[in-house]
Amino acid sequence: MEHADAEREKALIAIIEANARDPKRLLQILWQAQDVCDWISPQVVAVLGREMGLPPARIEAVAEFYAFLYTRPRGKYRILFSDNITDRMAGSIALFEHMAKRLKLRPGQVSDDGLVSIDLTSCTGMCDQGPAILVNNRAITRMTPRRVDEICELVRGRVPLADWPADYFKVEDNIRRADMLLGSAWVPGDALQAAIARGPQGMLAELKRANLRGRGGAGFTTGVKSEACRNAPGDVRYIVCNADEGEPGTFKDRVLLQSFAGRVFEGMTVAAYTVGACKGFLYLRAEYRYLLGALEVQLALMRAQKLLGTDICGVPGFNFDIEIHLGAGAYVCGEESALIESLEGKPGRPRIRPPFPVTSGYDGKPTVVNNVETLCKTLEVAINGGAWYEGLGTKQSTGTKIISVAGDCERPGLYEYPFGVRVAKVLEDCGARNPIAVQVSGASGICLSEREFGRRIAFEDVPSAGAFMVFGKTRDMFEVARNFAHFFAHESCGFCTPCRVGTALVANLMDKIAAGRGTQYEMNELLRLHQVMRTSSHCGLGQTACNAIFDTLQKFRPSYERRLKAVDFEPAFDLDAALAKTRELTGRDDANAHLGVEA
Ligand SMILES: Cc1cc2nc3c(=O)[nH]c(=O)nc-3n(C[C@H](O)[C@H](O)[C@H](O)COP(=O)(O)O)c2cc1C
Ligand code: SF4
Repeated sequence: MEHADAEREKALIAIIEANARDPKRLLQILWQAQDVCDWISPQVVAVLGREMGLPPARIEAVAEFYAFLYTRPRGKYRILFSDNITDRMAGSIALFEHMAKRLKLRPGQVSDDGLVSIDLTSCTGMCDQGPAILVNNRAITRMTPRRVDEICELVRGRVPLADWPADYFKVEDNIRRADMLLGSAWVPGDALQAAIARGPQGMLAELKRANLRGRGGAGFTTGVKSEACRNAPGDVRYIVCNADEGEPGTFKDRVLLQSFAGRVFEGMTVAAYTVGACKGFLYLRAEYRYLLGALEVQLALMRAQKLLGTDICGVPGFNFDIEIHLGAGAYVCGEESALIESLEGKPGRPRIRPPFPVTSGYDGKPTVVNNVETLCKTLEVAINGGAWYEGLGTKQSTGTKIISVAGDCERPGLYEYPFGVRVAKVLEDCGARNPIAVQVSGASGICLSEREFGRRIAFEDVPSAGAFMVFGKTRDMFEVARNFAHFFAHESCGFCTPCRVGTALVANLMDKIAAGRGTQYEMNELLRLHQVMRTSSHCGLGQTACNAIFDTLQKFRPSYERRLKAVDFEPAFDLDAALAKTRELTGRDDANAHLGVEA
């Protein structure tokens, strides 16, 4: 064995041991192995399989599922351009092409010397400061042609990432409007003391009184979910904080984790006290890996303050601690059962439900999965009580909501409002430029036209997980929907046929229309596929994948129609175009040329 191979194997064994040889930590082990070995080579798989007693196929299945784990060599510098529509609007594709040209690379290609690779990736959650890129999973925002040139020089000079200018990696919070969460002070331990004074049943009562609803999208009542978990049989329970934040256009959880992490962790601990959980996981999307170090420091601080660990706040038997797990580039892992699969070190495919996580979640034990913002809200309810909380917002949507505003506006960033705020008010506050549409709640959400700007952000009107993308009058809403169609085709986990096949067909149909070869047939087909996927996909990804197409077809139909051919149907495969080159080479242009028949 070569010396370098032996060293690498030693490092891999150390990683496996540091992770207690636990197959549930396989995804974390693969991350760490990739950090050491650059990619998950067959040798890495063999060592992991041998040392952990796992079949290689099990390890390969995990490595191949996640976009940020590489089963083929990638460059020492792995550059990924965020491909959300707002990054595109800020000029990301021209910058991508500029960098590819300067580095003499095609998308996905690794340079011959193995130094660098460049590609696109799904939204990196930096829409308020795009165009953004990831270099070896470190976010760089506000890209310009000059910055592209500088980065090309740094790469060519093989300058270690640690020596790149620090201001490249600055991620701003951009808090534009603060309310009861973003604008209040946090005194560590206050919420826990208040929760302890109420007791678990008292906390459940306050959460229900508050009518707190989950901020992750579905708006499920937090108190009801927590109660179901508390009442589920068994002694071991878990709290999971969903920080996967993969919905294009959403970045509020990034800010909460960057500048309000203590509240997130204390919120998790209050939730643990309420349901009787002994352990918590923060599932952090890989795009936010830059936060990992600071989050670990915050956890250590809270352990030292007795806000985590054993006998928390001096209460005998109140034991709870939090572990951070890194995702690896899979939007579907935001779906709570897929997230649990991923936490267990498996490919993140949504489970068949029931059973629901509250009775059978992580490791088959009762588990509450909550969004980052929901856990911050849990803290507010603990401190101020349900009656106070219920008085804010609307009847069915109590409290405030943080909205991530991006796109065509003067002041992109976070805006916190009491629920019920009108879309027009948000547009006014952010300085929207001649808006014709707003995509609320991300690619899977709702596209509102000008006529609907009087509607309210609330579960009873326009529900929102947080994204608010503004489109000005120069924007082409067909292209917005096409970008989303490609996002879903890329992110479908492939488990169920309606979504696996449907998202690919939809992306192809949109490309065909974009190429000017679409007809009324394709328009009808898009609507038919929307119905099929909405009603028969296994999880929310497939069920919502065509929402934007459906909405834009109703509200921005001319953006589709002006691309259509005035015929009933145009075949997707253009035989003449495919044969043109051969005809040129053979010098034959007769009707039988492709049939092998003599002219
Ligand atoms: C495809 C898909 C992606 C999702 N992504 C997220 C996410 O990134 N963050 C999140 O909190 N919820 C996400 N959800 C919703 C979760 O499944 C779950 O409802 C949520 O985490 C529950 O937390 P809450 O009750 O606090 O809202 C996603 C759902 C689907 C179907
Ligand atoms: S709907 Fe899509 S993402 Fe969800 S399980 Fe089916 S294939 Fe996977």
